[in-house]
Amino acid sequence: MKITKVKGFSGEVTVPGDKSISHRSIMLGSLAKGTTEVYGFLQGADCLSSIDCFRKMGVEIENNGTLVTIKGRGLRGLMAPSDTLDVGNSGTTTRLMSGILVAQNFTSRVNGDASIQKRPMKRIMTPLSMMGADITSELGNDCAPLIIKGKELKGIHYDSPVASAQVKSAILFAGLYADGETSVTEPVVSRNHTELMFEEFGVDVRCEGKTAIVKPTNELFAKKVEVPGDISSAAYFIVAGLITPNSCITIKNVGINPTRDGIIKVCQAMGADITVEKTSGDIGEPTADITVRTSSLKGCVVGGDIIPTLIDEIPAIAILACFAEGETIIKDAAELKVKESNRIDVMVNNLKAMGADIEATEDGMIIRGGKTLYGATIDSKLDHRIAMSFAVAAMNAEGETEIVGAECVDISYPDFYGDMRKLVLN
Ligand code: S3P
Repeated sequence: MKITKVKGFSGEVTVPGDKSISHRSIMLGSLAKGTTEVYGFLQGADCLSSIDCFRKMGVEIENNGTLVTIKGRGLRGLMAPSDTLDVGNSGTTTRLMSGILVAQNFTSRVNGDASIQKRPMKRIMTPLSMMGADITSELGNDCAPLIIKGKELKGIHYDSPVASAQVKSAILFAGLYADGETSVTEPVVSRNHTELMFEEFGVDVRCEGKTAIVKPTNELFAKKVEVPGDISSAAYFIVAGLITPNSCITIKNVGINPTRDGIIKVCQAMGADITVEKTSGDIGEPTADITVRTSSLKGCVVGGDIIPTLIDEIPAIAILACFAEGETIIKDAAELKVKESNRIDVMVNNLKAMGADIEATEDGMIIRGGKTLYGATIDSKLDHRIAMSFAVAAMNAEGETEIVGAECVDISYPDFYGDMRKLVLN
């Protein structure tokens, strides 16, 4: 895909549904008693992988593109898949589903694409094994393919070394089947969509500070789920609106759960013209319309407890920082190295190719903003968030940029380029 500079952006956009919430709706809907209807489900490849895996375990799931209907089979109703469960590129499917598979009365094999086969799974294998699970890495490298033999599980307390909702959620899902209470303490609280949706589906779950606690259960109850727009997808429009001259963009119905809203705080700290108009209350998954206008930005430090609340937005924030005066330091974000690509290296190398003043650090990057960016050939490494971040950078760079593997946006935002194009001023 070839992209050149634009004059500005104007208008409204509704981004697709939240990826994390969409995955969880399939898993909980499959395990519930009754029919779960999901509105605003993200029709991206990752969430379709979740649908595919649960269909392979006998769950009837209808997807007409707008409404997803799941006929739940009950907590113990999944059937042995006849084939490998293919998670595609999806870390969330891999880790959360593993927490369910460890408790089934069958054996399963979980595998995905080349990127998934490099992502660390020891982080879930360790706590799930403490619960009595039999989960092994087929190649002995702590990565997928995973072989999971269902077992009786015991409740544990786990002190997680990482702030990871995927790790926390894998343990909480397994905890539904355990012989007693299960709890997970994180160094910093990660996104809490699992806890919120558990509660909606009738699970006894509570949070005490940085600890999430779940009681085992016999039944979950089907629920209507309305998925808000994904703030991680909204991030590209937020950054585009702020850094591009002559711009004003409103992003409608965005999920602003406080465990996900770090990008808004960073924009405010940089002096952005950003308004957040709430469209629903503070209970559950709050939503808002977010409006951004072209702004003069200044660099800031992004680190500490805010990191888990914006971890997927860091590639977009790095682009924002290139258009801010002064230095932006992103730190405490070593987790970026184990995402769909090594996002520290990939951002730094590609931004350097465009002329940015940026250097990698052990746990983040340092960006000195204000340098003109020039078109370059960008290797997305088939990481959707890298492709979308550089599309935004390219629309503010001199000359032409080519994004290699641009189609990988299909993972989380199939119509990304079309939605962006609709807002471009002629
Ligand atoms: C997710 C958790 C985060 C995030 C990912 C989705 C989730 O990963 O980066 O895109 O849905 O639980 P980690 O748990 O590895 O931080």
